[in-house]
Amino acid sequence: MKTPDPTRKVHIRTYGCQMNVYDSERMADALAVAGYAPVDSPESADLILLNTCHIREKAAEKVYSEIGRLRALKIRAAAEGRSVTIGVAGCVAQAEGDEIMRRAPAVDLVVGPQSYQRLPDLVAAAGRGRVVATDFAVAEKFDALDRMTARPRAALGATPRYAAFLTVQEGCDKFCAFCVVPYTRGAEVSRPVAAIVAEATRLAAEGVREVTLLGQNVNAWRGEGPDGNDLGLGRLLFRLAEIPGIDRLRYTTSHPNDMDDALIAAHRDLDALMPYLHLPVQSGSDRILAAMNRRHRRADYLHTIDRIRAARPGLALAGDFIVGFPGETEEDFADSLRIVDEVGYASAFSFKYSPRPGTPAAAMEQVPEPVMAGRLARLQAAINASQARFNASRVGEPAEVLFERTGRHPGQIVGRSPWLSPVQVDGDPALIGSIRPVTITAAGPNSLFGTLAGGVRGPRPLMAEAAA
Ligand code: 5AD
Ligand code: SF4
Repeated sequence: MKTPDPTRKVHIRTYGCQMNVYDSERMADALAVAGYAPVDSPESADLILLNTCHIREKAAEKVYSEIGRLRALKIRAAAEGRSVTIGVAGCVAQAEGDEIMRRAPAVDLVVGPQSYQRLPDLVAAAGRGRVVATDFAVAEKFDALDRMTARPRAALGATPRYAAFLTVQEGCDKFCAFCVVPYTRGAEVSRPVAAIVAEATRLAAEGVREVTLLGQNVNAWRGEGPDGNDLGLGRLLFRLAEIPGIDRLRYTTSHPNDMDDALIAAHRDLDALMPYLHLPVQSGSDRILAAMNRRHRRADYLHTIDRIRAARPGLALAGDFIVGFPGETEEDFADSLRIVDEVGYASAFSFKYSPRPGTPAAAMEQVPEPVMAGRLARLQAAINASQARFNASRVGEPAEVLFERTGRHPGQIVGRSPWLSPVQVDGDPALIGSIRPVTITAAGPNSLFGTLAGGVRGPRPLMAEAAA
């Protein structure tokens, strides 16, 4: 298919999780077919899309203040005789579509995460009157993803990339008491193996060497093998590692109860699977875990971690924590602090509990804000110390680094270690796109520093160069 000459410009702003980053790329793909070229600033755009996050109240409220700023921009453009369309996509759109239309007259279009394939038509319709599209049709979205990702991304004028996301699963059936995801993204739906393999193959042809499989509950992914048998994520990872050019695999994010034997075995046997795992625990207290409906105890989580670490020694563990879940006492919170040290996280995200409309925990008795703020600060100090210990433990170690970009300082290039931390070295930008052995020489709070060692797993030519 020939790409039409871009005549219109779209600016997409992404909030929240990596699934939204992936979805924003697909929105750009869908709109490229309709002649929209992506631009970095909203000022020059004809179409502005906010891809939003509803996970915490702060994230959702940001959207309304951003719409306020865009409204002023829209009025200025109208005074110059230019019309600007404003669209809200993502989880706030799904959860609060009608509310957005009521509160924000500047918004022309509300589009939920299952409808991005229809964007060209929806944008055209929004030119005639305000539009809300928030149907749940995940299977339809996955079919459309196959078509959207079938077009080589280079044709859209995108810069080369060496690491990419690939959505394999959407939705969640777990219903943790604090979480909106089962409501905004719906029930768990897995993308079929053939579609995932096809997309990973195209990414490899584009020059991508590292693929991160995405899903709200990615390790609950299920598929059907060639012989009709049931496959889990572990077997899928083995299949993807067979694709020439795919050197590294990761997946995010996971529920502890779905770490099955085959997936743990993949951490032991599959070199391409990077020694990094994001496995949120949310709380270290059994009482709070039960109230959260996490369906596991602290000891179950620690046992799972022991098994994964036995399978892959040196694996970097990342986590998520919520402080101030309704009913959390000082004693419960102390259990969360303790688990940080017991696990020895390489990194972790931590959040104050935020009541979300429609979730069971929103109706429970809330912990006062200053108590939450104090606990968050103490937890973050513990997490930072744990991260510093992990980073310090890497100094003197060898690490294979996939270089992705130049650094802030001249002569510096930056890549990712197997443990996902950024690694900065002095090196030739020509090394970008290659995986090189590095010796880690120093550790900062958030990144590692190293020197290039001998030996090369050099860059592969991009598809366009290979064909030339
Ligand atoms: N309040 C605070 N944090 C939340 N998370 C999910 N829902 C809420 C909420 N209502 C956090 C969890 C989850 C991460 C993506 O966001 O830690 O793992
Ligand atoms: Fe939300 Fe994750 Fe719990 Fe699902 S498993 S309800 S996405 S926190």
